[in-house]
Amino acid sequence: MFLLSNVVLTAFCSALLIPQAEARRAIEQRTSSIEAQTDQYHNLSSKADQIKGAMLASIRTSWEQGTAAGAILELDNPEYSVFADSPFVNNGETPVDALRLALSAAARQTSDGRLSQNISDGLDGAALDGASSGSVTLLGKADYWRNATDRQLNFLLNGVPKTTAGAISMRIDSKQYWDDGVYMMPPFLAAYGAVTYNQTLIQMAITDEGVWATGNAWAALGMIRVWSTILKTPYAWSMQVQTNDLRLWVKEILDGTFAAINNDNLIPDYIQGGATFGDASSSAALASVAYRAAVMDSNTFGGNYTDAASRLANAVLSSVDDLGVISPYVNPLSWQEIGILSTEGQAFALMLLSAWRDWLKAVNPDFQS
Ligand SMILES: *[C@@H]1O[C@H](CO)[C@@H](O)[C@H](O)[C@H]1NC(C)=O
Ligand SMILES: *[C@@H]1O[C@H](CO)[C@@H](O)[C@H](O)[C@H]1NC(C)=O
Ligand SMILES: *[C@@H]1O[C@H](CO)[C@@H](O)[C@H](O)[C@H]1NC(C)=O
Ligand SMILES: *[C@@H]1O[C@H](CO)[C@@H](O)[C@H](O)[C@H]1NC(C)=O
Ligand SMILES: *[C@@H]1O[C@H](CO)[C@@H](O)[C@H](O)[C@H]1NC(C)=O
Repeated sequence: MFLLSNVVLTAFCSALLIPQAEARRAIEQRTSSIEAQTDQYHNLSSKADQIKGAMLASIRTSWEQGTAAGAILELDNPEYSVFADSPFVNNGETPVDALRLALSAAARQTSDGRLSQNISDGLDGAALDGASSGSVTLLGKADYWRNATDRQLNFLLNGVPKTTAGAISMRIDSKQYWDDGVYMMPPFLAAYGAVTYNQTLIQMAITDEGVWATGNAWAALGMIRVWSTILKTPYAWSMQVQTNDLRLWVKEILDGTFAAINNDNLIPDYIQGGATFGDASSSAALASVAYRAAVMDSNTFGGNYTDAASRLANAVLSSVDDLGVISPYVNPLSWQEIGILSTEGQAFALMLLSAWRDWLKAVNPDFQS
């Protein structure tokens, strides 16, 4: 595995003017890191079913429904995820598990078009959260799915309040931005644009500066999906300025948050001051982003990203308890507290497993998952 012939190595070194021994050492280090990570992945990936079980057992809000559906799609039907080579063609096998979650989101769509909103009193004020299921309803082939997806798109384009700068607000009732909006809406707009060959929609996914101006795990998750979506469309070439921006923003977020990894191998709940505990939830999300980024652009996202991601992955996935719950994580309803159960945290752990698997596949031709 990974043996470079001397001829290739010599040519490579003289082209870059670096000493052969140093280059050989770098390759050996990288090889041993990949081998170690392959073992770690195989030890920890057996927890996927437990983590998924805890996620599916949780009572979910609209944004959690969409996040859970996305996580299951990436884990069980990666051929349909935006990280696949050609996700927007009919890939054959129906992504049943993800569609089950999307079916519930469509059955609970409110009359204004928001997916997964008709729960309790049907008056959830979230404007964008329902759109998180849109990328998965988009995969349904029948009229029922198409209609539900179109109503959700129509709501985003015509039903959501805009600020004076034109940015879409996260809440129906107040023009306020929530960081997680970057995961909820832009990936859906981009995927819809990719499927219907509509570059205007893809462009809309990027230019909503108000929502993009945040730096956290949700933002990075959203950005990397929009970036990967664009690369799979005929517009990849003409949108290099946009994909380059996305690359830089993802890098900024990873550089900032990975520098804060603590001795517990987790990213703390607050990056700048006031940190009280390592947060397995954002650690899982950001580690998944690092693995995805490393596959998409290994020059920018080299071994220092994937090595840090593996420390996070080991810490997060080793924490799984008897019920399949990872810990500790932020209570999604009260950010200062440690939560008991977080659907998004469980979903991020699954996203991490899929991203880790797909990176290992990319760097190790012999890898078997
Ligand atoms: C994987 O698990 C086995 C058995 O528990 C253990 O011996 C081995 O050290 C683990 N490997 C890694 C890389 O964690
Ligand atoms: C929620 O669903 C109920 C039952 O189908 C329906 O009567 C009601 O109009 C729906 N609410 C909204 C806001 O769409
Ligand atoms: C989908 O929408 C079209 C156009 O509004 C309508 O004719 C059709 O009956 C709808 N189909 C379903 C299954 O809702
Ligand atoms: C792209 O989508 C927008 C919003 O739905 C629509 O107004 C526009 O006509 C579409 N463009 C094309 C080329 O289909
Ligand atoms: C990784 O290394 C590159 C190049 O030295 C540097 O720009 C980047 O900040 C580093 N990032 C992390 C997360 O260590």
